[in-house]
Amino acid sequence: MLISLFRNRDMASVNLLFFVLMLSSVRVGRSAESLFKLKCQPAVGVIGQTTHISCSIEFLTKSKHVIINTVALTRSGEKNSCFAFQPFENVRIGDSRFEVENEPSLQLHNTKTSDEGEYRYFIRTNLGQDQVQFTMNVTAKYSSPIITSVQKEIVNDGHADLYCSASGGYPAGTIHWFDQSNTNWTKSATLQSTQGNDGLFTLSSKLSFQKIDSLWAPFRCVVLNNRYEEEGGATSTLEIKDDPGNSPSASSTVNNSIAGVVVIGSLIVGLLIVLLFKRRRNQRE
Ligand SMILES: *[C@@H]1O[C@H](CO)[C@@H](O)[C@H](O)[C@H]1NC(C)=O
Ligand SMILES: *[C@@H]1O[C@H](CO)[C@@H](O)[C@H](O)[C@H]1NC(C)=O
Repeated sequence: MLISLFRNRDMASVNLLFFVLMLSSVRVGRSAESLFKLKCQPAVGVIGQTTHISCSIEFLTKSKHVIINTVALTRSGEKNSCFAFQPFENVRIGDSRFEVENEPSLQLHNTKTSDEGEYRYFIRTNLGQDQVQFTMNVTAKYSSPIITSVQKEIVNDGHADLYCSASGGYPAGTIHWFDQSNTNWTKSATLQSTQGNDGLFTLSSKLSFQKIDSLWAPFRCVVLNNRYEEEGGATSTLEIKDDPGNSPSASSTVNNSIAGVVVIGSLIVGLLIVLLFKRRRNQRE
């Protein structure tokens, strides 16, 4: 009994698939007797979440009652539907992540980067049939960026390479760099963008200095999405040390000048004493 039920179900699916294939091979223009227009808004989804494909029926006559027999969603350039549903037979084929949300609107669960693209949506009703094209775009937010450096210790006036990385975003974004006084260093940086098997991007920007100045720190990197909207930022906590070879010489010059003052001072005092003695001797004589 159960097996035969399944068999009937399979047969129905095959029939539906065949029906949908026939429909897509026949040019379904909006015939003169079409009593409604199918409309869909561009869909925007977030990876891992449910995307709403918002569609509506616009009636061209006074008739306001429509019964949908079949819905079929097909990716542009493909023959087979990625999703089709017949409500009365309760038969569905294709990707199980699709669902009729609120006729004729659809929803797609667990959205993936590969779902992005152009779609053709067809419906057949008691008032005739229509189809419409729409695009689906997907996005994913980048993780908070992290700033690192290759050098264990960054020395003032020394060479430094700073890296700023963020991952798990879609579509490809960019990274900008600023210093403490908000000077834009982005032109001195190189951006590397790599796409994983899941379609998500990892961004890594390298900012190189021949001679870094501790007065520029801290540095800030900002992650921007493909619409140039800021998605996150990080501030460097790297310490830029004074060159240990420089500091003793600096303090010794200070010591030298103090010594100089002392030497010259005592010479002047000595000279004054000598002059004073000479004067007294002259006075006595
Ligand atoms: C939206 O998706 C279309 C179709 O794949 C694509 O051509 C377009 O670049 C996408 N738009 C954005 C802003 O990502
Ligand atoms: C920083 O420089 C980059 C690259 O020249 C530029 O695209 C960006 O708009 C600048 N950002 C600001 C805030 O000026």
